[in-house]
Amino acid sequence: MQALDAKDLGRALCIITGASRGFGRTTALQISELVKPKSVLVLAARNAEALQTLQAELAASKAGKAGVIVKYVVADLGVKEGVESVVKAVKLHSSEDFDHLILVNNAGSLGALRYAKTLTDMAEVTSYMAFNLSSAVCLTAGVLEAFPRREGLRRTVVNVSSRCALEPFQSWGLYCSGKAARDMMFKVLALESPDLRVVNYSPGPLDTGMQLEARTLTEDDSLRNTFADMFSKGKLLTCEASCAKLTTLLLKDEYTSGAHVDFYDV
Ligand SMILES: NC(=O)c1ccc[n+]([C@@H]2O[C@H](COP(=O)([O-])OP(=O)(O)OC[C@H]3O[C@@H](n4cnc5c(N)ncnc54)[C@H](OP(=O)(O)O)[C@@H]3O)[C@@H](O)[C@H]2O)c1
Repeated sequence: MQALDAKDLGRALCIITGASRGFGRTTALQISELVKPKSVLVLAARNAEALQTLQAELAASKAGKAGVIVKYVVADLGVKEGVESVVKAVKLHSSEDFDHLILVNNAGSLGALRYAKTLTDMAEVTSYMAFNLSSAVCLTAGVLEAFPRREGLRRTVVNVSSRCALEPFQSWGLYCSGKAARDMMFKVLALESPDLRVVNYSPGPLDTGMQLEARTLTEDDSLRNTFADMFSKGKLLTCEASCAKLTTLLLKDEYTSGAHVDFYDV
C-alpha cells in the first residue's frame, strides 16, 4: 500500500456526517484543504440550506478552485432511509478514482438530559440510539461494503467520540451510553479489520450548539453549572483548534487502530 505524504490525505472520497454546523462543518473546511484535487467530499445532515451554503463556500475556496468537489445529501440519520441515501451517494463513485476513503461519523445529539431513573419511555430511548448508535454502525458498514478492501486504497474511519464514552455523568445516561457503545463498536471493527484505520476521537468541550444545550438543559444542577462555568470562563475549545488536532492525527497516521484519542492527548 502506498504510504501517505504527511502533507496531504491523498485523493480522497471523504464522507462527513453532521456537516451543517459545529465540528462537522469545520471538519469539512479543514479536510478540503488537505485532500488532492479531484477529491470528493460528501456532506450529510438535515439542514439543506446550511449544507448548500457550505458547498458554495467550499466551491469558492482555494480547495474548490483547485478541483475538490463537494456534494451534499440532505438526510435524517435517525431513520433507515437517511442512512441509505448517504450510502447511495457514495455508491455513485468508483473506488478506482481514489486512493483514500475517509468516513467521519460526526453527527450526534445529546438527547434527553434527564436522570436515568426517568427514562421510562422505550420509544424515546430507541429513537435516541437509532440516530446516535445504529446510524453510525450501518453507515460505516454500508460505506465499507461500497468501497471494499483494494490494493492502493487506504480506508480511514473516524468516530467522533467524547469523554462521556469513558466516564459516567449524572443525567447524561443516553449520551454516555450511546458514546460508550459507539466506541466499542469501532474498537471491534478495528480488531476485525486490521487493514482499516479506525480512531475514536474525543474532540474536547467545543463551543457549539451542543454546549448551549448542555449548559441550559442538563437536569443535574452541578453538571449544568460546570458547563455554564466553562462557557463563562472561556474554557470551551474552538472547533478549529480541535479539528486541527484531528487532522494532525490523520496526517501522521500513527495512532493504534481502534484507540480512543482525546484532544488533550494529541
Ligand atoms: N460540543 C461538544 O462539546 C462536544 C464534546 C465532545 C464530543 N462532541 C461530539 O462532536 C460531534 C459534533 O458535535 P457538535 O458540538 O458539533 O454538535 P452540534 O453543533 O449540535 O451539531 C450536530 C450536527 O449533527 C447533525 N445532526 C443532528 N441530528 C441529526 C440527524 N437526525 N440526522 C442527521 N444529522 C443530524 C446536525 O445537523 P442538522 O441539524 O442539520 O441535521 C449538526 O450538523 C458529536 O458527535 C458530539 O457528540 C461534542
